[in-house]
Amino acid sequence: MELERVLRDRRSIRKFTGRPVPQDLLDSLLRKALWAPSGMNRQPWKFVVLRGSALQKLLALSSGLAESMDEPLKAQKFNDKMRSFIIGYFKNLGGAGSVVAGLSRHEESAAEDYANVLSAAAAFYNFLLLAHEAGLATCWMTGYVSVEKQLLNLMGVQGHRLVGITPVGYPDQAPPVPPRKHEDLVWLE
Ligand SMILES: Cc1cc2nc3c(=O)[nH]c(=O)nc-3n(C[C@H](O)[C@H](O)[C@H](O)COP(=O)(O)O)c2cc1C
Repeated sequence: MELERVLRDRRSIRKFTGRPVPQDLLDSLLRKALWAPSGMNRQPWKFVVLRGSALQKLLALSSGLAESMDEPLKAQKFNDKMRSFIIGYFKNLGGAGSVVAGLSRHEESAAEDYANVLSAAAAFYNFLLLAHEAGLATCWMTGYVSVEKQLLNLMGVQGHRLVGITPVGYPDQAPPVPPRKHEDLVWLE
């Protein structure tokens, strides 16, 4: 697929068919995603794939988080339907059979840590695009930052920060394309 098509057509998908994603496909996409640039070439990323009982543990954590979301969503003026969709989505992650967590190695220096997060985010986004090209669907989520510690514990990982998690599966919805809000392009000559 042409790169521009991949960029434009990738959508955040929150409902998946039950079709499992082959492990070798997921593995090859994640390996390709690592071809991202990185600050000082530290390559500070880590991907963790959660399936089976690991995914069930994540869903238990996620369901707890969902319970605490209603009031903040009300405060953001989300209507009843939207709130119940968002909370339901956090409870089952759209029925996806695989979840990928994108992590960034923590550095003591704030500047280096920042560069690591950006570098890991570049690799994570590579994965989202590659997954879309392969006919899979994803949804980058940072809603778990508030339970980052528990999530890292659940994965058995230390010394990292969470860049995001994404469910991965075959799409069972085709959401409308959100138009670009504005063009933030500045030319200084
Ligand atoms: C850094 C980041 C964090 C996001 N966090 C969440 C999230 O926690 N939950 C969620 O449902 N979607 C999340 N999204 C998805 C956005 O809502 C989505 O990208 C946006 O609505 C545009 O839709 P599109 O991805 O289909 O173009 C996140 C996206 C990004 C890039």
